[in-house]
This record gives sequence, C-alpha cells and structure tokens, in this order.
Amino acid sequence: MLIAGNWKMFKGAHEARAFTTRLRHLPERAPGVEVIVCPPFVSLEASIQGLGSESTVRVYAQNVHWELEGAYTGEVSAPMLLELGVKGAIVGHSERRQHFGDTDETVRRRAEAALEAGLAVIACIGETEAEREAEETEAVLARQVAAIPRHERLVIAYEPVWAIGTGRTASPETAQEAHAFVKSLHPALVLYGGSVKPESASSLLVQPDVDGALVGGASIDPTSFEAICLAAAQVASA
Ligand code: 13P
Repeated sequence: MLIAGNWKMFKGAHEARAFTTRLRHLPERAPGVEVIVCPPFVSLEASIQGLGSESTVRVYAQNVHWELEGAYTGEVSAPMLLELGVKGAIVGHSERRQHFGDTDETVRRRAEAALEAGLAVIACIGETEAEREAEETEAVLARQVAAIPRHERLVIAYEPVWAIGTGRTASPETAQEAHAFVKSLHPALVLYGGSVKPESASSLLVQPDVDGALVGGASIDPTSFEAICLAAAQVASA
C-alpha cells in the first residue's frame, strides 16, 4: 500500500520542514504503508532535512524534465533532483496537462528520463467530466496508458479530473472499474487520486485493484494526512 501526498503549490521551505519533522516516525505507526510526500521544488531540500536520515518517508518532486540540462527555463532535471536526495517524481498530473501543455508525448519523455536516471515515477492519468459523459473514459485511459513506460519503479495514479479538488470522490465501484481496466493494459500498481479524505480512504483502499492513494488537499494538513496513512495501514493488515 502506497500513500503519496501531492502538496501542489503549497508550503514553502519553513512550513515543509516543520511538517516533515512531524511526519518522520509516521511509517512506524502505519506498518505496510509506503509514505511519500511531494513538495514544491523549492521545499524539497527542507523536506529531506526535516525527515532526517532515519525516516523511511520518501520525497518526490511534482514534475521532472526529460533533458539532463539545457536551455529550458523553469524546468528541473532528474540528476538535479537525485543530487538533493529526491527519490522520485510525479509526471503528467492533470494540472500540468491542463495548464502547462503537458501531452502524452511529454509525459512519456519525462517518465523515461526519470526512470533512466534512477528516479521512481508516479505517472498520472484520468478522464475529464466531459469525456466520462461522452463514454470516452476507456478510450482516454487507454491512450494515456499507452504512453506510459513499463518499469518496476513506475506506478500509475488514476485521477479522474472531475474528482480533483471538487470533493466529488469517485465511488469505490467507479474507481475499482477504472483501476481494473488500467491494469488490464499495464502491469503497474495503480493509486487512486481525487478528493481522498480520511473518511473516504478505507472504502477506496479496500478495493482489490486500488493499491494506494495520491492525496492532494487532505495531504497538506498533517492530521488528515496521518489519518489517511493510518487507515491505509488498517486495510493493509486486514
Ligand atoms: P485532491 O485530493 O485535492 O482532490 O487532489 C488530488 C490530486 O490531484 C493529487 O495529485
């Protein structure tokens, strides 16, 4: 079971250090759960320092570029992340696809470069509300999954766009159906993302093809993030 907190554009270095210091020993209370936090680039180093060398909580970036270096203003490469002690990166989050021009092709390039450099990857997919209403969900997921490399260090996050930041969590049945479909195409673990809260976590995580969660809003509050990790530990031990 894997629980990753995507902080999005929240928490500067000061807040990140305080939060991760508090999170340090969480895995000991949540056996069977791999805990990951994904701070903004500028807070990665403070988060690694806050966790200290003993913690098993891992720090991932929210994005990574496909070149090692070059004239790519505003981007960060995999070797730069590794040098800091970052263990992985999210690629293809729907907010990057929507607002920053990421496509299946750039997602593929980012994922391949990250894996090649030695990072783990959380590759995000998910349909919009219009696509679901037009019964295009499977076609969209199949197209997005086709661009995602197969690798032991890669997990997929199914994040229906209509469920992100809306409070409209996918029902456990809807999530299970999508996850089973994704797994029929790709052998990776599949996390669910989209309005996961402490109250909804267990019912999603008990689904047979839901291997964990990518949590946005509820991951930036330490109490609710801890509650989700503890709920996951209960599911993992059942
Ligand atoms: P919310 O949990 O805020 O809906 O965000 C989900 C998400 O986008 C995680 O990457």
